Amino acid sequence: MATPEQAQGDRGLPVRGQTVETLRWKGERLEMIDQRVLPARFEFLAYDTAAGVAEGIRTMVVRGAPAIGCAAAYGVALAARQWQLAAPAAFAAAMEAAFAQLAASRPTAVNLFWALQRMRGVWDQVRAQSQGTVAARLLAEAHEVLAEDIRINRAMGAHGATLLADGARVLTHCNAGALATAGHGTALGVFRSAVEAGKRISVIADETRPFLQGARLTAWEMVHEGIPVTLITDNMSGHLMSRGEIDAVVVGTDRVAANGDVANKIGTYMVAVLARRHNIPFYVACPLSTIDLDTADGAGIPIEERAREEVLGFRDLQWAPAGVQVRNPAFDVTPAELVTALITEKGLVHQPDRSKVAALFGR
Ligand code: MRU
Repeated sequence: MATPEQAQGDRGLPVRGQTVETLRWKGERLEMIDQRVLPARFEFLAYDTAAGVAEGIRTMVVRGAPAIGCAAAYGVALAARQWQLAAPAAFAAAMEAAFAQLAASRPTAVNLFWALQRMRGVWDQVRAQSQGTVAARLLAEAHEVLAEDIRINRAMGAHGATLLADGARVLTHCNAGALATAGHGTALGVFRSAVEAGKRISVIADETRPFLQGARLTAWEMVHEGIPVTLITDNMSGHLMSRGEIDAVVVGTDRVAANGDVANKIGTYMVAVLARRHNIPFYVACPLSTIDLDTADGAGIPIEERAREEVLGFRDLQWAPAGVQVRNPAFDVTPAELVTALITEKGLVHQPDRSKVAALFGR
């Protein structure tokens, strides 16, 4: 398997206020910001194989449901480019292997499977044509998945911004920002759109143990953007809510079941319960690509369990004793009844339930 190379050039931080390009097609390769080393370093890694992209998703170079979907789409396109000169049978086998490798990278974010299904649809449509045409068509589709994601985030942002009052202090969990998408973000896209609409918003980011997406990524994005942000540890939100210091919660999601149950980063459920206790609205920014009508409710959502090392310490520092048992579920499920509204590109879905979710798809 090809290892990702350090991308050449463009290594500095983006200019303040400039859109963060989480992934981009450059010089015939896919480049992705290495989110494992942010904010200490801002670097792109370059990928030219589907196996490399699958590994990049698994190891969280790229993470966040929509960004994972975009990366997977490019992974399929890269496989077609790599194998386009092979014999037809070898080409078809390589494409199937690429789909399988990418599908096995992470289990919870349904955008991964959504993107693979979309790419398979194109592959099925054009596979009778020349392999060069197939490769070009798949790359064009990956570009469209990326461009569409930004358009969708902007639409969600516009709808979500209407929910936030001028001066609102809004808690978010994990990172559902530009870094978790092709750009703008889902939950952080709502904040960006609110600020663009002239509202003064301040963000409370919890650190999001164990991978620290809140402390490392959300805080970095907001500071970079000049949106006021306060960092708290995961166990502080109840206290702040009880003191009236949080007006709303907005989070992203990795998969919404057909009944409106929401899987998101571990700890989201805790925040949702606290929000209900304190009568604080709990909003979920959710593109339609994150809704899984094939999963009836949250109990059916596969929850990724990650390595014990993530809980024992951080990077090279281990603070827990080696002999301890560890659990590391990376996501949890918030029941639909705790969700005040889903924010989608088609508008707001207040108190989501099975029929309202189905209606989004005209069913
Ligand atoms: O493990 P991660 O960092 O991929 O988890 C990300 C989240 O839980 C996000 O909140 C979710 O993917 C929505 S991103 C717009």
